[in-house]
Amino acid sequence: MANEEEQKNHLFGIKDLGHKTLLQSDALYQYILETSVYPREHECLKEIRKMTAKHPLNIMATPADEGQLLSMLVKLTNSKNALEIGVFTGYSLLSTALALPPDGKENKKGSLDFVFVDADKDNYLNYHKRVLELVKIGGLIGYDNTLWAGSVAAPPDAPLMDYIKPLRGHVMELNKYLAQDSRIEICQLPVGDGITLCRRII
Ligand SMILES: C[S@@+](CC[C@H](N)C(=O)[O-])C[C@H]1O[C@@H](n2cnc3c(N)ncnc32)[C@H](O)[C@@H]1O
Repeated sequence: MANEEEQKNHLFGIKDLGHKTLLQSDALYQYILETSVYPREHECLKEIRKMTAKHPLNIMATPADEGQLLSMLVKLTNSKNALEIGVFTGYSLLSTALALPPDGKENKKGSLDFVFVDADKDNYLNYHKRVLELVKIGGLIGYDNTLWAGSVAAPPDAPLMDYIKPLRGHVMELNKYLAQDSRIEICQLPVGDGITLCRRII
């Protein structure tokens, strides 16, 4: 278990680039991965995960537990048409694609059932405007990184990592916007770096 200073740094993304969870206990996260996630992970996803781990920017990849969540959401919503905005090595894209039925599609336009947004954080509000026009009523949008390494709750003068600092305000603005948007129901989950699920209702 990390000491108090290490935990604080980890939460605000100050130095611990390797983390893909906001859970305060690495042992607990490892337990989740090893008990419930890795044993059920598709072989192709496993391959992508292992190859991505060697990439210098591997922090960008969707973690396996979040991939499992995306897969479950696609199935629960009986999604057939899905879109992902922001593809790196494709872990989340493949997690979604494998969960679609045989006649399902990863789409670029049309009446979408499921959208996962994991791209440039300073554009999320623009994506929201556009994606709401594309997703059907009852459809689901997932915005990734909405806790932004825990920095959304950091004091204004906290010493944040270079890549965290400039985008923190945008993520906080998005969170506020989603919370008051009456066209959607929302649920923010502390999975991965935080994912906010938005169900279009009107
Ligand atoms: C955090 S990564 C996405 C990781 C992805 N979930 C995965 O597991 O492969 C963000 C990706 O968004 C892409 N990106 C950034 N700005 C973008 C833009 N304006 N349009 C499309 N993609 C963008 C980046 O190139 C990067 O690959």
